[in-house]
Amino acid sequence: MIHSVKVHHQGKVYAYQVERGKNLLEFLRENLYDVTTPCGGKGTCGKCRIKVEGYVKEASEKEKKLLKAAGKTNGYRLACYNVVEDDIEIFLEDFNREASIVTEGVENKTELSPLIVKKNIKVKSPDLSYQKSDQERVIEAYTSASEIALSSCRLDSLELLRSIPELIRTEDSVTVIEHEGQITGVEKGNTENRIYGIAIDIGTTTIAAYLYDLKTGNRISVHSTLNPQRKYGADVLSRIEYTNNSEENQNEMHDLIIDCINKIIGTFERNNGISSEDIYLMVFAGNTTMMHFLMNLQAKYIAVSPFIPVTTKMQKIKPAELNININRSGLVIVFPCVSAYIGADTVAAILSSNMNNSDETCLLIDIGTNGEIVLGNKDWMYSCSTAAGPAFEGANIQYGVGGIKGAIDKINFAEKLEYHTIGSEKAIGICGSGIVDAIAGMLDKGIIDETGRIVDKSEYEQENHTLINDYMDRLVRLDGMNAFIIARKEDTAINNDILITQKDVRELQNAKAAIAAGIKILIKQAGINPSDIKKVYLAGGFGNYININSAFKIGLLPSELAFEKVVSIGNAAGAGAIQGLLSKHNLSEAELIKNKVKYIELSALADFVDEYVNCMFFE
Ligand code: FES
Repeated sequence: MIHSVKVHHQGKVYAYQVERGKNLLEFLRENLYDVTTPCGGKGTCGKCRIKVEGYVKEASEKEKKLLKAAGKTNGYRLACYNVVEDDIEIFLEDFNREASIVTEGVENKTELSPLIVKKNIKVKSPDLSYQKSDQERVIEAYTSASEIALSSCRLDSLELLRSIPELIRTEDSVTVIEHEGQITGVEKGNTENRIYGIAIDIGTTTIAAYLYDLKTGNRISVHSTLNPQRKYGADVLSRIEYTNNSEENQNEMHDLIIDCINKIIGTFERNNGISSEDIYLMVFAGNTTMMHFLMNLQAKYIAVSPFIPVTTKMQKIKPAELNININRSGLVIVFPCVSAYIGADTVAAILSSNMNNSDETCLLIDIGTNGEIVLGNKDWMYSCSTAAGPAFEGANIQYGVGGIKGAIDKINFAEKLEYHTIGSEKAIGICGSGIVDAIAGMLDKGIIDETGRIVDKSEYEQENHTLINDYMDRLVRLDGMNAFIIARKEDTAINNDILITQKDVRELQNAKAAIAAGIKILIKQAGINPSDIKKVYLAGGFGNYININSAFKIGLLPSELAFEKVVSIGNAAGAGAIQGLLSKHNLSEAELIKNKVKYIELSALADFVDEYVNCMFFE
């Protein structure tokens, strides 16, 4: 039986005929609506909220509980829990609230020498005494105008050999496109000045793209967006699970990212008056799973022990092989990875931090769903990846949200609790940096004890000498747990209090213990003292926004590391990809880094669990 389903989205109404029994999340996904699904549709996150008018079956206790926790009881349902059973109307929230995406990073001074070059040449005409083939004459003209030796220059594309006879006879000059001695294109006239490149950091949540003029080395534009694959889960494991189900799903995951990349290229074209035909080089960084999805490689074995990717090498791919809409003579570079969980983004971040050339020992930490940690200097480097879980991205936190407008990102526990939201909008939830501030402040004020327990109101009253009434009033019970109100109902945009619950504190304890234990293990492996570490680089969006004092307070960073050693380096993966785009030497450097970094698999170490348990406590 077929039912009418109307979807209200961004001021418009779209009508569909849908088979009875169709899951609402599946239906919305198939029709390309963006629904937040951190748990990937497993029914545990409670974030796939939609408003439904018309008949759907009564909510189960579990669905009711999740909706109640989010303060969404009035007509709201969870898409993954429900199916079409009658004619209905669905009202979608603005899930695509503008995300605050960190695009800036630290770029080292780089000499401009992109891997791909264009050169205008005049090809000598043949005559009876100069009997060289068209192929030989193009190579000869090109090598005499460039630094490439005649013996190492090649032109072997059949397609090109078919097109050059007319080109070189009808045009006064032609422009050659070359990389690593291989001529990949010959264009009519002088197009030497039209050569652009794009560096892209594909994050699990966000994508940052940078358009550069490869003739001058100048940045032209930056564009960032959310990763469309996130509808299949906030973390890489949920997405791998989805692609494991069928080849069709794997292709879909690949198509989602390719489509997004082509849209970014289209945006650059429109906004900057350039043609995609003048883009010749793209350099990608991202975690190992994202790089596999980009190349449409099976990511299945990344998810299961012994965690083996298909490839970790730097890849050089023709754009047409990936259906990427840039000049077909161009090139797509995928940065190398170290292992299944130390990806191309970490290699790019190391390149950007320049710790690979440092005499001093440095620590690089990129905190996301996984925490990637690298310790070392120009002579040696150790790395590990810890499953911090998505708490720092707000996903497993009851009122957690990503870094979007309205997210509480800073909290100050003074005489009265004060908070700040992204975009200074009414609060809709708390993002990672806000959660760290909340826990640090609650610890400081004695609202949480060293085991992570939120104290009872009466206990707080008795034990706290510096009792502050504002905080007393915020201590409440929620679903049988102690909880602490950060934002009051009347001040929020969700018509509900925004709280930190006891369960949230436990989630954060797990996440911070994973990172802190990873750092301690690497220090032990390297046989150094924490005081030997002279610089701590915090990479990524979270590292950029986090209050470093709060990070020390909750024990995310070991107390032996001094505050002044910590530097936030923003989107280091993006900055590293840009360095690779602008210079082939940096691409070679990335390969050296890949080979230098020794990966430590924490699950294979007996003392990791001990360290992890120790790090659960607050000092
Ligand atoms: Fe529906 Fe998580 S509860 S996607």
